Amino acid sequence: MRTEILPIDENSLRRAKRIIDDGGAVAFPTETVYGLGANAFDNKAVENVFAIKGRPNDNPLIVHVHKDYDISELVTEVPEYAKALAKAYLPGPLTMVFKSCGKVCPAVSCGLDTLAIRVPSHEGAQKFLKFLNLPIAAPSANVSKHVSPVTAEHVYSDLDGRIEIILDGGKCSGGIESTVLDCTGDEPQILRSGLITREMIEKVAGSCGEYVLKEGEKARSPGMKYKHYSPSCQTMLFSFQERSKAVEEYDNSRNNGVNAYILCDDKTAKSINADKVLNLGKTGEQIASNLYEKLREGERCAELIIAIAPEEQAGVMKGVMNRLIKACGN
Ligand code: TXA
Ligand code: MG
Repeated sequence: MRTEILPIDENSLRRAKRIIDDGGAVAFPTETVYGLGANAFDNKAVENVFAIKGRPNDNPLIVHVHKDYDISELVTEVPEYAKALAKAYLPGPLTMVFKSCGKVCPAVSCGLDTLAIRVPSHEGAQKFLKFLNLPIAAPSANVSKHVSPVTAEHVYSDLDGRIEIILDGGKCSGGIESTVLDCTGDEPQILRSGLITREMIEKVAGSCGEYVLKEGEKARSPGMKYKHYSPSCQTMLFSFQERSKAVEEYDNSRNNGVNAYILCDDKTAKSINADKVLNLGKTGEQIASNLYEKLREGERCAELIIAIAPEEQAGVMKGVMNRLIKACGN
């Protein structure tokens, strides 16, 4: 099978619908990263998505719906704070976990009694979801554990030959995956940080917890326990305070003939002396938006990526740091 990259129009949407109706999977853009979608009512189709990615079968998928989809047919309880959050931030990069009413097929949530729901704001995603008018189960459209894709070409380089089509919606603006928020308790709890920050959630919901996986504990969000987002080359990670050690490592590597690159934000890039730099940009939003693209660029041009964490760690940077540690940490 040859994989085709198609612009999003009437023809490609019809083709996508045929593939989904036949139990296949289609890659589509969102404002965070590209997703690999299948009909959430079709157990075989969803199992096939796990197989295409090589994803462990205990890591549940997010169901994507268009903005007018009535989610009350999929979940039982939607607390008041979740309704307020939906009003404030959806469509957008916020995934909410509710008690499932069991209508979606069991493979989606890997046997959990909850369901993660997301309403993406990307225009192409909305067109795709509206055209199908189905809940679409979709993980990120990368091979499991690899860096998430933020362009159609990234999807192609991971999944060429494994899927029929990729709907091309340009570069994803957000750049890191949605915030995953557990909405089954009295207060919301962040399971995965992202562009909708804890501060933004607290502002609307009054309070917000953050789930931290403790040693030996069973993960509430199974994705937490897996290595993720990793480039294929070697990586190292230093804190902002350790940046001179990072540069020492860079110099030593280069002197020993290792093609090393530094990955850092603009502020750090200006404060160090290195020629080969993958510059992530200035603001938290820019850094999030560029992170996966630069990690993929790095694995193409470098043997070793030496990442230096930005000094700022709050807000959006929390999500960035979570990805950076999983991608480049030990
Ligand atoms: O931005 C995004 O969320 C992207 C785009 C494509 O929408 N999707 C994405 O999917 O990142 P994936 O499969 O790579 O990550 C889904 C995360 C995993 O960490 C998984 O454990 C968690 O969501 N998750 C899914 N269903 C869950 C549930 N019922 N309870 C707790 N966590 C859940
Ligand atoms: Mg993923």
